[in-house]
Amino acid sequence: MSSATYKILLPISIMVLWMCCIKASRELQENEEIPALMAFGDSILDTGNNNDLISVLKCNFPPYGMDFIGGKPTGRFCDGKVLTDLIAEGLGIKETVPAYLDPNLQSKDLPTGVCFASGGSGLDTLTSSLTSVISMSDQLKNFKEYIGKLKGVVGEEGANKTISNSLFLLSAGNNDIAIIYLDTPSRAFQYDVPTYTSLLVSWTSTFIKDLYGLGVRKIGVLSTLPLGCLPIIRTLHGGPMRFCGDNANRAAQLFNSKLLAEVNSLNSSLPQAKIVYVDVYNPLLDLIKNPVKSGFRVPERSCCGTGLFEAVILCNQLTPFTCDNVSEFVFWDSAHPSERAYRTMTPPILQDLKKSFS
Ligand SMILES: *[C@@H]1O[C@H](CO)[C@@H](O)[C@H](O)[C@H]1NC(C)=O
Ligand SMILES: *[C@@H]1O[C@H](CO)[C@@H](O)[C@H](O)[C@H]1NC(C)=O
Ligand SMILES: *[C@@H]1O[C@H](CO)[C@@H](O)[C@H](O)[C@H]1NC(C)=O
Repeated sequence: MSSATYKILLPISIMVLWMCCIKASRELQENEEIPALMAFGDSILDTGNNNDLISVLKCNFPPYGMDFIGGKPTGRFCDGKVLTDLIAEGLGIKETVPAYLDPNLQSKDLPTGVCFASGGSGLDTLTSSLTSVISMSDQLKNFKEYIGKLKGVVGEEGANKTISNSLFLLSAGNNDIAIIYLDTPSRAFQYDVPTYTSLLVSWTSTFIKDLYGLGVRKIGVLSTLPLGCLPIIRTLHGGPMRFCGDNANRAAQLFNSKLLAEVNSLNSSLPQAKIVYVDVYNPLLDLIKNPVKSGFRVPERSCCGTGLFEAVILCNQLTPFTCDNVSEFVFWDSAHPSERAYRTMTPPILQDLKKSFS
């Protein structure tokens, strides 16, 4: 090679080297801030933990997952990705967050986080027992088991670091209010709404302190959805015009306002912890009230299981009727937003999470 060629090639190779390493060190830095994402609670975050349960609250069959990677039904209560995946993706952690109970889970999945949430679960022990899904205390048990496995993969020090630096998401209260309180008489007979919502918040607080006791330091606590505007609640409680159910929305708002206060109080009382409230109520309500602004056409019906099937939570396995274009629908089934609705809500949530935790 002539010296002239060297003169050209050398700067180029230095530049390539420089670009590669800048990129690598930036990724490393990102991963060190929030190396993993974990999720607890209900179907807003569940990525497939109910698949092997004997429960009606399962969705590992078509048309669920039709917009997921490979069009695969994975047990996500959605046509595609759920918030857990979208937040992990947005934080640069990974594309999808596997369910802890996924039989194909591998050791290499553990250090970047897994999901413990279970569709149909809630803060009230009555909720998970009526829906036959994984209770919050069993989710915590699974998390403890996970810590043991993580230590096997990255060592004790590595596991401690992962637990204390990772972001933990919690979504709970939706099923307690929408299923247990409003649609089964037992709890409503025992407690009025102010008492029940206070109880739910005290159970959330206990759960957060349990996580803290296990070394968790970064927690994002999701509000409930605007429950009265779920297609199923409109059908059951919205009258012939299928308005949003006022009682459900009022109960959700009361719970959320108490949750916000408790989260802020825990944030200041637990040393070294950062615990933030994540509002999903208002962003989703905004999509429902102003759908056209974000390219949606149908905010009040579900894409899957339209009509009579809107009186059941999941779209029916035997009659998997779906709309022509799910992108126009805020709701995928009668209780869960579509992937595009989640995607539309995610950017401001991500911005808040990045501000709080980076
Ligand atoms: C890991 O954390 C536990 C408690 O959270 C502590 O007892 C232990 O000493 C830590 N181990 C290492 C290696 O840092
Ligand atoms: C949470 O606590 C941190 C200090 O750990 C503080 O900077 C932040 O402002 C607190 N957030 C809220 C909403 O109180
Ligand atoms: C489906 O709806 C989305 C959102 O309104 C729109 O952008 C897209 O063009 C539609 N697709 C078809 C095939 O009509």
